[in-house]
Amino acid sequence: MSQKTFTVTNDQTGEKYTYPVIEATRGPSGIDMRTFYKDSGHFSFDPGFTSTASCRSEITFIDGEKGELRYRGIPIETLATEHTYLETCYLLLTGKLPHRDELVDFDFELRHRSFVHEGLKNLFDAFPQDAHPMSTLSSAVAALSSFYFEHLTIDEEAEYQEMARRIIAKIPTIAAFSYRHSRGIPFIYPDIGRSFTENFLYMMRAYPGGKMHITKEGENTIRPIEIEALDTIFTLHADHEQNASTTTVRSVASTGAHPYVAISAGISALWGRAHGGANESVIEQLKMIGSVENVDKFIAKAKDPDDPFRLMGFGHRVYKNFDPRAQILKRYQDNLKEELGLDSNLMQIASRIEEIALNDDYFIERKLYPNIDFYSGLILTALGIPRSMFTPIFVIGRTVGWISQWIEFKKDSDQKIVRPRQIYTGP
Ligand code: ACO
Repeated sequence: MSQKTFTVTNDQTGEKYTYPVIEATRGPSGIDMRTFYKDSGHFSFDPGFTSTASCRSEITFIDGEKGELRYRGIPIETLATEHTYLETCYLLLTGKLPHRDELVDFDFELRHRSFVHEGLKNLFDAFPQDAHPMSTLSSAVAALSSFYFEHLTIDEEAEYQEMARRIIAKIPTIAAFSYRHSRGIPFIYPDIGRSFTENFLYMMRAYPGGKMHITKEGENTIRPIEIEALDTIFTLHADHEQNASTTTVRSVASTGAHPYVAISAGISALWGRAHGGANESVIEQLKMIGSVENVDKFIAKAKDPDDPFRLMGFGHRVYKNFDPRAQILKRYQDNLKEELGLDSNLMQIASRIEEIALNDDYFIERKLYPNIDFYSGLILTALGIPRSMFTPIFVIGRTVGWISQWIEFKKDSDQKIVRPRQIYTGP
């Protein structure tokens, strides 16, 4: 079959420039315009990269019109309902779901790698008491690069895997330390007898000596339903192709910097309210709205072009029909609201916002639907997780995606240092 091409015409001169089409296995194909500047003397202009593919990738596929999300070809619904987060991590890292023995080995490896160097722990003393956990988490992950400096020069599969498993295993420990530092309470070390997700809840909640909260009725244990809910949230966040934080990770990778510094940069990019920081803002906003009666007033503010107020947890650059992750969490929330103990007032406000927005022309015309952050905050609140830890939880889930994308970047011979151009309009 002959190579498909695409031709661009300069309407001033009539000159034509022809470029090869790069076929996608799913979704839109691309046009290889790498020589466009050399050929035409012009730059393409695409702020926010709304029409620009920066790489070929085999990791995650999103069809924003259909509301479809797949990791390594497997639909997110299958992964979220039939597989664990660790299986999903293995899939993202290696391209296939693990057999039973592979999963056991992977799980044990992560448990044993979950400890951090004591020197890293001491870093937290330098931060102010009320430091946001995202700030300490990002700093501590950057500092981790000095403990594993050898990862700067890796290029073999076994070395990539070791580097990736190390960061995936340590992120929950560092995140829990960040939280405990922000509360001024002693750090709890990982317990290798506990699974990945249970261990994180344990490091957040336990008292020194490893005891959980004790009441007259006895010791509170971590309930399986809580582990399952958080595990599902991790899976839903595990990767999301070339979003802002992943693009940041790839950009830092392109300069040849240490992989953990790239992850730290990804954490910083995720923190913003337009990205992963939205989950914290959703609950703040629901609390600010306060009651169902106030919802109309805030919907009007969100629609007012002169008011910067936005409904947090609504809208997405890619999903223009529904966010499949949000649908999974909504079902989860509706089915388990009693068992999980969801805040009924906040749920009522959220349901009312959703009901109005889904039937309002402003939101319909702009294709604004609830995104994952709209629902994750309610579930995390029910798990007793404080708001400041919502985005760190996103980080825990997403680290596997970032590091898989970092590895893919390193193996891609087409990749160059990221260096966009500009159209100068100054004096
Ligand atoms: N509330 C009210 N209006 C909105 C919202 C919102 N949440 N989101 C977009 N709009 C409006 C804009 O005002 C704009 O209207 P206009 O055409 O009349 O000017 C139109 O919809 C398009 O908005 P853009 O900002 O151009 O859309 P973009 O694709 O660049 O932004 C984004 C997507 C950043 C997610 C945006 O919808 C937003 O800010 N949402 C709230 C924050 C949020 O929930 N972020 C989490 C995203 S999911 C994630 O990162 C995990």
